[in-house]
Amino acid sequence: MTEPSSPTAPTAARVFSGVQPSGALHLGNYLGALVKFVALQHEMECLYCVVDLHAITAWQDPKNLAAQTREIAAAYFAAGVDPAKAIVFAQSAVPEHAELAWIFNCVARLGWLDRMTQFKEKTGKHKERASVGLYTYPVLQAADILLYKATHVPVGEDQKQHLELTRDIAAKFNHDFDAPGFFPLTEALIEGPGARIMSLRDATAKMSKSDPSDQSRINLTDDADTIANKIRRAKTDPLPLPDTVEELKGRPEADNLLGIYAALAGETKAAVLARFAGQGFGQAFKPALADLLVERLSPVSAEMRRLMADPAEIDRILAAGAERARALAAPILAETKRIVGFTGG
Ligand code: TYM
Repeated sequence: MTEPSSPTAPTAARVFSGVQPSGALHLGNYLGALVKFVALQHEMECLYCVVDLHAITAWQDPKNLAAQTREIAAAYFAAGVDPAKAIVFAQSAVPEHAELAWIFNCVARLGWLDRMTQFKEKTGKHKERASVGLYTYPVLQAADILLYKATHVPVGEDQKQHLELTRDIAAKFNHDFDAPGFFPLTEALIEGPGARIMSLRDATAKMSKSDPSDQSRINLTDDADTIANKIRRAKTDPLPLPDTVEELKGRPEADNLLGIYAALAGETKAAVLARFAGQGFGQAFKPALADLLVERLSPVSAEMRRLMADPAEIDRILAAGAERARALAAPILAETKRIVGFTGG
């Protein structure tokens, strides 16, 4: 057993989360993840990773990957993540992630991965053409989190199943190697109206980078006119805004737009409804929502542009973050290897 004072003892509270550099960020990423990242950095020790190893589970053009990685880092900083407080780094710069993932590949069961809905959604009928990496993707995600013994992971609702798998891997490792409590049973931080932002064209599908229709999402880098246009054209039903949240049931488009407004304004849906109930969507609500989006997102995209103009500075911050991350990861991986029975240093 580890001593309480050892660097590998259970962490009091530590946050880990990541975003893939696989395309432009959208409002779902912003509300489901980035806004929470910013709030948590004042409360706990936080590590925010740009998960480039995850990104290559689907083809990424090597000519673009570095720029995409910097863009995600720029989005973190522009949203308010302070690299002096939180540790921000690229996953591939900390090789311990891949090493722990291998050990976890030998802990996780095929049956567990077969149940992962995101793999099924991404591959559809063409499972045999997917990379092996895409299949074991959630195992690498568990390694990301447990490499730091992170206790809390802020994510959108689509990551819930991956977080449950992370707990299963931790519990099985602790049990199989007779190391009770070595890896924590990490808690997902999902709650809030921003946890599941849906497509603006089809409120039964989540807002996603991979949706072929750009009209389905608000990108962090969209300008004011584009945002206003997308919100004007966002699908709704013909009824006016209702008086109560209960009446949003069975009205997924209305519910989604209300959720976006509430998440951006930091209000409840009920409070938003109190102002707009009885009116048609196009009357006052949609223009107010577009204004709110522009007000919140345009400083973020302006700051992203400013930061992206100096890629060397982003690389410097990421390299410094990777060094801090490695200092935390190395002793935990070394202890894990000792527990597994490896004799090498
Ligand atoms: P990724 O890059 O797909 O998404 C990044 C974050 O955005 C959230 N998100 C959403 N939230 C609300 N509504 C939406 N429509 C929406 N779409 C995306 C995601 O839940 C996520 O929080 N597997 C992760 C990356 C990852 C990770 C990790 C996360 C790798 N290792 C360790 C946490 C901990 C992913 O694909 O994120």
